[in-house]
Amino acid sequence: MSTVRIERVPVEDTYELRARVLRQGRPVQITGDDAPSAIHLAARTDDGRVVGVVRFHPQVCQWRESEYAWQLRGMATDPDVRGVGAGRALVAEGLVQISRAGADLVWCDARAAAVGFYERIGFSTVTEPYDMPPVGLHLGMVLDLPIR
Ligand SMILES: CC(C)(COP(=O)(O)OP(=O)(O)OC[C@H]1O[C@@H](n2cnc3c(N)ncnc32)[C@H](O)[C@@H]1OP(=O)(O)O)[C@@H](O)C(=O)NCCC(=O)NCCS
Repeated sequence: MSTVRIERVPVEDTYELRARVLRQGRPVQITGDDAPSAIHLAARTDDGRVVGVVRFHPQVCQWRESEYAWQLRGMATDPDVRGVGAGRALVAEGLVQISRAGADLVWCDARAAAVGFYERIGFSTVTEPYDMPPVGLHLGMVLDLPIR
């Protein structure tokens, strides 16, 4: 893979990858996409291709007390670039941006198959597995911010 750069993008730039990797047969829009506070990030190759996407937005966490929690959603990388750091780079940039905005906690509904990815980044599992149809089992994961 050539290098990727992480950039803040309009939500529309995330749709193609969301549709292909995350939301097959479902609408690509996620509730809250248009909120002014939502941060949409993309990993883009030198030739302009979007190979990774993620969204962060303020959302109360039901598992942990916090002053200003943000949720991570819509996380996906292109199968062509997996395992070389695009996912980690996207989350890292998001954590910097939301920490600057005052976030003290980030959380996500992690697909069971992606739990190891979030653990590598520093998230901890705080729930038992739960079903989120039509995708299947998820686990609640959290990370305290800012990272020290
Ligand atoms: C999960 C996903 C985003 C990971 O993206 P990626 O670009 O491969 O991640 P990275 O290359 O940055 O990996 C960072 C680290 O996590 C590890 N990792 C990546 N995916 C992993 C997984 N599913 N399980 C365990 N470890 C994983 C990598 O080996 C790497 O480890 P390192 O710290 O030793 O280098 C990607 O596999 C994906 O889009 N999956 C399908 C959609 C999905 O499940 N999204 C999450 C919804 S909650």
